[in-house]
Amino acid sequence: MPTTDSITRKIQGAATADVCSDELRWDPWAYDAPRRGSRLPVYGAGASQWDTIPRSAPVQREIPERYRAMAPEEVAARIGAARARLGFRLVILGHHYQRDEIIRWADFRGDSFKLSQQAAGRREADYIVFCGVHFMAESADILAADHQRVILPNMAAGCSMADMADEAQVLACWRQLDEILGRREDRAAAVPVTYMNSSAALKAFCGERGGVVCTSSNATRVLEWSFARGERVLFFPDEHLGRNTGDKLGVPDDAMVVWDPRRPLGGNSVEALRGARLILWRGWCSVHVFWRGWCSVHARFTTTQIAEARRRYPGINVIVHPECRREVVAAADLDGSTELILETIASAPPGSQWAVGTEINMVNRLAAAHPDKLIFCLDPVICPCSTMYRIHPAYLAWVLEALVDGEVVNEIVVTDSVKASARVALDRMLALPGRPAPAAARR
Ligand code: 13P
Ligand code: SF4
Repeated sequence: MPTTDSITRKIQGAATADVCSDELRWDPWAYDAPRRGSRLPVYGAGASQWDTIPRSAPVQREIPERYRAMAPEEVAARIGAARARLGFRLVILGHHYQRDEIIRWADFRGDSFKLSQQAAGRREADYIVFCGVHFMAESADILAADHQRVILPNMAAGCSMADMADEAQVLACWRQLDEILGRREDRAAAVPVTYMNSSAALKAFCGERGGVVCTSSNATRVLEWSFARGERVLFFPDEHLGRNTGDKLGVPDDAMVVWDPRRPLGGNSVEALRGARLILWRGWCSVHVFWRGWCSVHARFTTTQIAEARRRYPGINVIVHPECRREVVAAADLDGSTELILETIASAPPGSQWAVGTEINMVNRLAAAHPDKLIFCLDPVICPCSTMYRIHPAYLAWVLEALVDGEVVNEIVVTDSVKASARVALDRMLALPGRPAPAAARR
């Protein structure tokens, strides 16, 4: 493991001002059910801490006491032993944002899309343990073979962005758009496009209505496909990825409107909706935004941080995830998915300098893997994706030891009907030509 100091150890040793929330130092089981205290369940440290988790979100039952009491060395030894016992029947997938103490066990690492493909490609594995967040495990279950069982080590590992759009809200929006904008016999008022960061139900929604799924690495190609099939696109749930992709395709500003599900007509006039080409859902990743003053991963990145990095290191390359706000993406040199950020920096010449706008565990590992390059996170405060961070080694030990005993804990099951429609939307994306374009420099 090419890491000098894991984020977990850095958090434990950091001053309060150097972490986005003291909650990061809590035990992960503080979020298990029954939830202690009178507080409503929230996403936790590093997320938009005033947003409560939807009632429909899965709840993690209490992890057995013996795992809570274990020393880290014992937990690691048990994970290693269980993994060896399960052999080829098990595949462990690790998203780039997982902590080092988890990623060391991953058979494959990748972005959300690549990991789902890995899951689908390992037909000999009976168990797919997905160290990531809920929507990723659902996508793996959609693409997996019937005999494969997908497991999420901690059910409280959701995604605050994915939770910003639910099926009922999107259906209400869809009906209003059809009513206002009219639908022709063969064509709805808009083509629905959902980001990978969404529930299986929303992927199915798109599959049933001529729509498609996109990821941060192919959003441009997916939108081109969609505009060839309809004059308008309804894009959810990430407003920023939608707008940044609209910018790349030259969609004019006044042809991009935001749909706020809490307001009549999404907060728009009928005229604005008639003139719209891209209707953007009001949702974002709290990891990538400093929003209304609260910490909400990609919303935390700012143009001020970019200006400061350029002042300190003239000529430095700035690369960010497209979930960041428009002005941050515009001020960066490059933007792309986690996998593209990784590949771009890995293939850069020795001595090159990189300021990175994405999650801290991934940036920390990149820096350790490439000591010949200067690599740092744009955000000086340590603020991991709080929900990814809930995949603590104790949960991994628990689910693996249960599998050795023949018990499946924390299985993710997408119903057959949802799976079939969601698969249609995913297959439309997979049928698009070419592999994701490398991150293109704008400056
Ligand atoms: P990737 O698909 O680039 O891995 O992004 C997933 C994500 O949730 C980033 O915040
Ligand atoms: Fe969701 Fe943001 Fe975490 Fe990505 S970083 S999984 S968008 S909360």
